[in-house]
Amino acid sequence: MKITLSRRTAVVALAAATALAGWVVVPGSASAQLVTHPDHNVMDDSLRELGMRHGLYIGTAVDMAALNDAADPQYRSLVKSQFSTVTAENAMKWESLEPTRGTYNWGPADDLVAFARANGQRVRGHVLVWHNQLPAWLTTGVSNGTIGQAELRQLLHKHITDVVDHFKGKIWQWDVVNEAASDPWDSPPSIHLKGFWAQNLGDGYIADAFRWARAADPKALLFYNDYNIEAFGAQDASDKTFFVYNMVKGLRDQHVPIDGVGSQGHLGTQYGNYDALQVASALDRFAGLGVATALTEVDVRSQMTAGVQAGDSAEINPRLQGSASNYSVLMQGCLSSRHCLSYTVWGFTDKHSWIPGWFTNPPEGMANLYDEQYRPKHAYETLRADLIFAGPPFVLPRVQQLPRH
Ligand code: XIL
Repeated sequence: MKITLSRRTAVVALAAATALAGWVVVPGSASAQLVTHPDHNVMDDSLRELGMRHGLYIGTAVDMAALNDAADPQYRSLVKSQFSTVTAENAMKWESLEPTRGTYNWGPADDLVAFARANGQRVRGHVLVWHNQLPAWLTTGVSNGTIGQAELRQLLHKHITDVVDHFKGKIWQWDVVNEAASDPWDSPPSIHLKGFWAQNLGDGYIADAFRWARAADPKALLFYNDYNIEAFGAQDASDKTFFVYNMVKGLRDQHVPIDGVGSQGHLGTQYGNYDALQVASALDRFAGLGVATALTEVDVRSQMTAGVQAGDSAEINPRLQGSASNYSVLMQGCLSSRHCLSYTVWGFTDKHSWIPGWFTNPPEGMANLYDEQYRPKHAYETLRADLIFAGPPFVLPRVQQLPRH
């Protein structure tokens, strides 16, 4: 007897299979969304509108001082109009939330969450466990021996519990652990867990952090976030992406509640970068572990040579084009993987960018989508073009990730 499945049965079966893997297909067909009103010109749409054609959230890191600066209204209005998810650039870091031991300063982070809610945006929580921007009372206490290992572990547990609980139900994706893996230029060059937390608590802190975060919020998606993991390399001991892949696989094997991998995407036009297919393949391989992915901190900086600073277009143009191309590579990679849920830029204007303050020798800059006068650059229009021209069969609606328990 020939068995035929009705279309509905097949869809239900597919939904059941993906739900088992921790995923749910977002309803709504991509092709249906292409039908627009005759007066509506998709070429005019914002990044957030265009992203929604694919169920993809487009985000930015937000500098709270700029957001609240009444003399700089364009910043606030572009955060609203162009982005469907926001990340606190600094306001949710431990040194910002608990500058004095036991006294929390929730104000700026709460303001951002309220702003997002008012503007129909989702929030990426950044960051629970990181070796940078820790409060001085904590790092000093550890270095002078007044905070021992057992107390440090309790403090981390309390920090994660208090912060996740404070924002419970309001955070879409939490960066639970950030930048834990070393780089090939560190010593030893084989990739390992580096920094304050691994040194003081040992490697087990990562699994602990995810379990503690899950206990405090059963619904947020819990991410591991890092840079230089946009594509695989030699797949040996020097390959950071390979290390993170194996780490996530190990966490999954131990039933640690990890839901996603964030690839930061801090690139530079002076480097030999990846192509979109390499990024697509890396995101796919992470998805193969049953986790979602996201581009979480994209910016593409350039060296500010004397010529660039003097306005020499022969030096400026290739940088603008190189920057646009790298933004696009990451966008196309993300679009191609249905489990890549969001694409967030680390600031959107060169007027408020962490790059010139951090990369000074040689000076670097012009890393963002808009210039210092809020004029959109090639990179902005290239991202819009990527979102406009993408569709089935290679770009399909996102698959919703279910929090893992
Ligand atoms: C940066 C902020 O943009 C700066 O304002 C701050 O002074 C330092 O941190 N990776 C991360 C982000 O995960 O938190 C960092 O943000 C940039 C690199």
